Amino acid sequence: MRRKLIAGNWKMNGLLADGVALAAGVAELAKPRSHKCDILICPPYTLLIETVRAVTGSSVAVGGQDCHAKVSGAHTGDVSAQMLTDLGCRYVILGHSERRADHGESDALIKAKAQSALAANLTPIVCVGETESQRDSGKTLEIVAGQLKGSLPDGGTAEKVVIAYEPVWAIGTGRTPTLDEVQEVHAMIRRESGLGQGLRILYGGSMKPSNAKELLALPDVDGGLIGGASLKVEDFWAIATACP
Ligand code: 13P
Repeated sequence: MRRKLIAGNWKMNGLLADGVALAAGVAELAKPRSHKCDILICPPYTLLIETVRAVTGSSVAVGGQDCHAKVSGAHTGDVSAQMLTDLGCRYVILGHSERRADHGESDALIKAKAQSALAANLTPIVCVGETESQRDSGKTLEIVAGQLKGSLPDGGTAEKVVIAYEPVWAIGTGRTPTLDEVQEVHAMIRRESGLGQGLRILYGGSMKPSNAKELLALPDVDGGLIGGASLKVEDFWAIATACP
C-alpha cells in the first residue's frame, strides 16, 4: 500500500513573515497526525531555513524546488543538493516545466541533478508533462515516456524517487485532464519507469479542494504537487484531507 504524498510547491512566492506563517499553519494542522498522507512543503530558498524551524516537531517535511548537479564549486547563484540536506530538507523538486522552460533544462541535466539528490540523501521529485500542442497532436504518452527515460536517475528505487506528472497546460489554468486521461498517463509512468508498485506518482496542475478527492482516488495517483492552492493553509489542508 503506497502512502500518499501531498506536496506544496510555493514557486517564487512568499516573503519571510507570510512564509513562516503559512508553514506554521500547516504544521499546526498536521500536529494531531490524523491525516492519512505524508505532507511536504517546498518554499523558495530564502524561506527554507525558517520553514524548517517552523515545522520542527511536526510530521511536515521540507524540500527545495531545484538543486545543482554538482556538490560545490564555482556556480554563482546555485545551491547544491548537499546544502539542502544540510538545512534539513528531505526532498527536492527537479525538472519542473517552469525550469525546463525558463532555464532550458534538458532531461540529461535533470537526470544529473537527480543523481546528485540521491547522493545527498534527498528524494528527487522528477517532473514530467506534455504541452497543450503535444496533447492535441496525440503525443502525450510518447513525450512523457521520453522525458521519463531521459531524466530518471540511475540506481533509483521506488522508495527513493517520486515522479510528478504535470501537464504544462493544466498548471495555473484551472483546467485538468479527464480522470481517465490522468490515470492513463500515471499507469504508463509506472510501467515505463520499471520502479514497480511501490513508486509514488503525484499529479500536478490545478489540483484544488474541489477536484482533489476524485483525482486522489485514481488507482495510480499517489498524491499531488500543488502550486496555487498550497499558498492558502485551508486549501492545502483541504487537499491533504481529501486523501482516501
Ligand atoms: P498549480 O497548482 O498552480 O496549477 O501549479 C501546479 C504546479 O506547477 C506544481 O508544481
